[in-house]
Amino acid sequence: MTLPEDHPLRTGRTANSPLVSAYSGHRPRRLPVWFMRQAGRSLPEYRASRAGVAMLDSCLDPDLAAELTLQPVRRHGVDAAIFFSDIVVPMALLGVDVKIEPGVGPVFASPVRTLDDVARLRDLGPLDDERAAPVTAGVRAAVAALGDTPLIGFAGAPFTLAAYLVEGRASRDHLGARRLMHSDPAAWHALMSWAADVTGAFLQAQVRAGASAAQLFDSWAGSLSLTDYTQHVVPASARVLAGVRELGVRAVHFGVATGELLVAMRDAGADVMGVDYRVPLDEASWRLGGRTPLQGNVDPAMLAAPWEVLEAHVRDVVERGSVAPAHVVNLGHGVPPDTDPDVLTRVVELVHSL
Ligand code: CP3
Repeated sequence: MTLPEDHPLRTGRTANSPLVSAYSGHRPRRLPVWFMRQAGRSLPEYRASRAGVAMLDSCLDPDLAAELTLQPVRRHGVDAAIFFSDIVVPMALLGVDVKIEPGVGPVFASPVRTLDDVARLRDLGPLDDERAAPVTAGVRAAVAALGDTPLIGFAGAPFTLAAYLVEGRASRDHLGARRLMHSDPAAWHALMSWAADVTGAFLQAQVRAGASAAQLFDSWAGSLSLTDYTQHVVPASARVLAGVRELGVRAVHFGVATGELLVAMRDAGADVMGVDYRVPLDEASWRLGGRTPLQGNVDPAMLAAPWEVLEAHVRDVVERGSVAPAHVVNLGHGVPPDTDPDVLTRVVELVHSL
């Protein structure tokens, strides 16, 4: 399958943007920067738009999702928008009983722990174009308003989704999911395969509707040993990454505390590696053999530091990132909700001046 003719990568609107160039391994004139969770509670305009609307309802309202996607681009002048949605949206679109509770995250009414549980998920059928329509309409509206600023589509990786599905909610060390892969490998592989189909369809739908890059969030993969990650997780994630790269868009792969997994996550089929704040970018680039574009890794905690401290840290991140073939500045994880948004704008101005 190829991208539609009016896709911004094909019409050329975003093909030479600093973000897409850097993701393709080039060093654009302007160093690109955006922030994970740039749309969110740190913005007063976000809190106003979201007032009285449940998180998942706002994701499924195309006009609201597009507006929330655009807010941080307007305010900060970042080099990319990331589509406003959530990793559990594809499950909600299939009719899985899931909510996103403030301060908690996704909560599933029925945890998934057996082969029969997975069979019931399979029985819900695929995420086809009709069911994905609220998402693709939101992507189209956002892309139309973004002009030559690229939109990043995203999805949760199968393991991170499983970490929620097996426990029913967030957990500290994802023991439920890590147990299932060893106690019932058949159920585990069925779950990973279903999650890869659903999350892969969600990501491809965003790309076909106009996203110019894709990011796969395996936020909780850092709880896995390299052996477990390689044997029990990589095949499913590789299928998701291959699905979007076949469409001709660059794929970023990111997880928290995944310093030990960087090479395996790249080899799963990523063009770009997102690096959390624990591993300095020069060290990350060395681990990756110096041939992989990097994204990251300003420590979110530094956003609360005096400006001189933050500025020195951002300069250090950029300096270390200069050893990689290309670098997109970002945080090492999401924007904390109580961040002063003016600090983010100032970081963008600083990065663009370097
Ligand atoms: O701006 C963006 O980055 C795009 C939107 C985005 C959201 N979730 C919106 C959101 C993205 C990329 C995500 C991905 C996501 N969701 C991940 C992977 C990224 C990561 O942070 O590691 C994960 C693990 C989730 C699951 C999830 N959804 C969590 C842990 C939470 C936070 C719960 C809380 O209140 O602390 C959510 C809710 C959520 N998703 C919010 C937003 C803006 C907060 C909703 C609110 O405003 O109350």
